[in-house]
Amino acid sequence: QVAAASGHTVVLVDQSDEILKKSTKGIEESLKRVTKKKFADKPEAGAEFIQKTLKNLTTSTDAASVVHSTDLVIEAIVENLEVKNKLFKTLDKFAPEHTIFASNTSSLQITKMANATTRQDRFGGLHFFNPVPMMKLVEVIKTPMTSQKTFESLVDFSKAVGKSPVSCKDTPGFIVNRLLVPYMMEAVRLFERGDASKEDIDVAMKLGAGYPMGPFELLDYVGLDTSKYIIDGWHSLEPNNPLFAPSPLLNKLVEEKKLGKKTGEGFYKYK
Ligand code: 3HC
Repeated sequence: QVAAASGHTVVLVDQSDEILKKSTKGIEESLKRVTKKKFADKPEAGAEFIQKTLKNLTTSTDAASVVHSTDLVIEAIVENLEVKNKLFKTLDKFAPEHTIFASNTSSLQITKMANATTRQDRFGGLHFFNPVPMMKLVEVIKTPMTSQKTFESLVDFSKAVGKSPVSCKDTPGFIVNRLLVPYMMEAVRLFERGDASKEDIDVAMKLGAGYPMGPFELLDYVGLDTSKYIIDGWHSLEPNNPLFAPSPLLNKLVEEKKLGKKTGEGFYKYK
C-alpha cells in the first residue's frame, strides 16, 4: 500500500485469489482512512489519489512468474525459516541479477535467509511496523555480506515510501522488537502472577508511560501467534535468558486459536 501510494509499481503476491481479494479490500479501506485525513477538504484529489494508488497495484499467486521484472522483493510470509528459505531459493532462480531481496521478518536472522540464495550482497532486512500506513519507522538491516550499495538502496527506498529509516545489525529482534517483545512478555508474567489485572496493566502503561496501546492490546493487535513465534525462536537460541522464557498463558491462548484481533479473541474479546 505505502509503496503503491508513493508511485511504485507493486505486485502483491499471496497463496490464493481469495486471500488477495481480502488483502486488496483491506488496502482499499486503509487508503480511505489515509485519504480522509490527507485530503480532508479536497475529496476529488482524495479520490484521484486512491485511484492512482490502486492502478500501481496488481496481484498474483505466482511469485516466480512475476519476479523477473522486479527491482526489489519484500518478503512478509510466515515466520518460519525453512519456508522463507524455500521461497527465496526459488525466487533467486527467476529474479534478475540486480534484484534486491529483503525480508520483513520480526525475529529471524537475515543472514540465514541470505545464505539460501546466491545474492548475499543484494540481501537485507526491511522491517516495517503495524499499522504500516501510520507507523513512520523502518529498520534497515545490514548483514556482514550486504553491500553498501544494497544498504543505501534500501535506505533510499524507505525514504521514498515516506518512512524514517534506522539501521541495525542482524541481531535478534533488531531494535524495536528486542525492547518491545521482552516488555510485553514481562506484562504477561506480571498478569500470570496475579499482581495486576490486564486491564490495569494496559491503563497503567498508557497513562503512566504515554504508550498509545497497553501491552495486552498491542499483543492482540500484533497477533499472539506472531508473538509466540518470536519468543519461541529466541528461547531456542538462548534457553537460559529469562527475558525470552515462554509464557504458559500465551501458549494456551495460541493453542485455543485465540490469536488476537484477527480471530476475534486474544487476551480480549472483539466484536
Ligand atoms: N490504515 C490507515 N490508517 C490507519 C490504520 C490503518 N491500518 N490504523 C489506524 N489508522 C489511522 C486512523 O484512521 C486514525 O486517523 P485519524 O487520526 O485521521 O482519525 C489514526 O490512525 C488513529 O487511529 P485510531 O483513532 O483508530 O486509534 P489510535 O489513536 O489508538 O491509533 C494506532 C491507532 C496508530 C494503531 C495507535 O494505537 C498506535 O500507534 N499503537 C501502537 C502501535 C505499535 O506499537 N505498533 C508496533 C507494533 S510492533 C510491530 O509491528 C513489529 C512486528 O514485527 C511485530
